Formats: sequence, structure tokens, C-alpha cells
Amino acid sequence: MYFTAPRPEETSPVPAPFQPDPAFRADVLQGLSQPQKSVPARWFYDMRGSQLFEAITQVPEYYPTRTEAALLQAHSAAVAERVGAEATVVEFGSGSSIKTRTLLRAMPRATYVPIDICGEFLDEACAALQGLFPALRIVPVEANFMNPVKLPLPQSLPHGEEARPMLGFFPGSTIGNLTPVAAVDLLRSMRETLGEGAHLLIGMDRAKDPARLVAAYDDAGGVTALFNLNLLQRINRELGGSIPVGEFRHLARWNPEAGRIEMHLQARRAIRFEVDGHPFRMEGGETIHTENCHKYLPGEMRVLLAAGGWRETEHWTDPQGDFSLILARADIEQEA
Ligand code: AVI
Repeated sequence: MYFTAPRPEETSPVPAPFQPDPAFRADVLQGLSQPQKSVPARWFYDMRGSQLFEAITQVPEYYPTRTEAALLQAHSAAVAERVGAEATVVEFGSGSSIKTRTLLRAMPRATYVPIDICGEFLDEACAALQGLFPALRIVPVEANFMNPVKLPLPQSLPHGEEARPMLGFFPGSTIGNLTPVAAVDLLRSMRETLGEGAHLLIGMDRAKDPARLVAAYDDAGGVTALFNLNLLQRINRELGGSIPVGEFRHLARWNPEAGRIEMHLQARRAIRFEVDGHPFRMEGGETIHTENCHKYLPGEMRVLLAAGGWRETEHWTDPQGDFSLILARADIEQEA
């Protein structure tokens, strides 16, 4: 049901030497040159980082994944009823498409459009999904969903046929990894991708006792620490770095002013290292800021969505009120 053209590297007999990603290099060199050193969180996800993130979702302290999964189980039928079982489901950053299975089970006549920046991952996920849902129409799109995406869907419909409803899907509280300003930009861009009148099903983590939040991002088994430290290993391996990884510790702290958990890598002592021939030094106790995870109150979620052009139509939560699954509609006036 879906088609992918061979990639150039699949037809070339000689493996090309490893080329570092220029965007990774630029982000790292620029981030490490700032007074507060930082590296964008999107670089966590090399092969090992993706595996470690999967492991994080299983640790007892990290409640978001299992709580959201239960909410999807409980409410996918209601989503299908509200939106229409034959909708076009567009997932932003689809990854392994695991969570989508629950939604698609409730929407057997849906068309599925997974958008992901990693084409290889996309092919694998689509093949697995097609095996589970042989009749499902899958239209994969390899793109950066942070900008509006032109969807390869039919523009004009046969006479008398109604346009299928559009449903955007953005689970996992990934929106929380953006600053509120960037989150609003993304919500606007999703609206542009999906069109006026579309629906959006989005998962957002709620503000709660900071001790629980810190534990979720600094689990006793040390999986999140490995995930954070893997970023330094990736820099060493891919960018010819000499960072003494063992001299760093993982930190997760609650920033009450910004309403977010911040992850940092803290130098245990004064150190010097190089990345791609560029020298850097850090004082003992100095940190590299690696991730923000914003947590919102239900009213703040509504405000954020509205600023992005979305009106909340349903808001589901678990018995403890830990996590929100929100259905929203693009039918409010947008400021220019
Ligand atoms: C991907 N994202 C929603 C996760 C989060 O909870 O913000 C990333 C993560 N970082 C450490 N643990 C999980």
C-alpha cells in the first residue's frame, strides 16, 4: 500500500566514509561557545540514544508513557466518533508509530500519514504497521515537521465525494521539550499543514510535585543519566571530540520560574577538551544544558493551544491527574 524509492546509498557498492552531520557540528560548536553551554536535545537520538529513550519509558519513575497509553486505550473510540473513523491521521514525528496502533484500531478506515525526519526509521515503522493493518493506506512523508509540510494528498475529489477530516497526532508530551514561544510556532505550523477545521490529538504532561518530576528525569536505575551522557559520547565519536565523559554527572532540576525540568551535564572538576579541533574549557560545577521539559496546568495548555490557533474540544486525564490527552480543533480566528 505504500511505496519507497531506493536511496542512493542502497545502490552504491562501496560504503562512503562517515561524514559528520554539518548541522550537528554547527549546533555543538555554537552551543559550547556560549556562557551557558548547551546542546539542543534533538541530538540525543542516535541509535543508542533512541534505545535508551525506549528504556526510559519503561522505568518505574517515568510515568508519562504508560499514563498516555492508558488514556489512548480509553479514549480512542471517542476520538474516532468526534473526528470520523475515515479521517486522515497525520502523525508529527512518528518514530516507531507504536502509540498510533491504538488510535488506528479505533479508526479502521483511516489513511495514515506519518511524518518523520528519518527516512530509514519511517520505512521500517511503515512496514511493521502494514503487517498489522494490511488494509490501511499509508502515505509516509520524510520531512522536518517543525515547518509547515505539503502533504501528498489528492487536491481535488471526485464529484460528490466529501473531503476526509484531518486529524493531527502529536503524542508523548514532545511539545513540552520546546519553549512556549517555539511551541506556539509549531502549533501554528501544524495548523497550516492540516488546514482549517482540522482536529489535533495532543499529549501534554501536567505540572505536579517537583520531587516526582525530578525522580522521573533522574531515575534510581540511572537510565536517564546514561541517556544524557550518551550525548557526549556521540560528540566524541561523530565530531572527533576528546570530552572526558567520566568527569561529567547527570543533573535533573526543577526550574520553578520557567515551569520546567532542565537536564544538564555537570563537570565534576575543571576540564579542557576539544571538539573537531576547537578547544573548550569548563570550571568544576559548570554545566552543559541539554534539555527542557515544560510542564503545564490545564488552563495553561488551553492558552498555549489557543495561541497556536487551536480550540480545546475534549480534555482527558488519568485518575491522578498526571497527564492530559487533548482533542482540539482549528476553527478559531488566528492573528496574523
Ligand atoms: C521526548 N520527550 C517528550 C521526553 C520528555 O519527557 O521530555 C524526553 C526525555 N528526556 C528525559 N526523559 C525523557
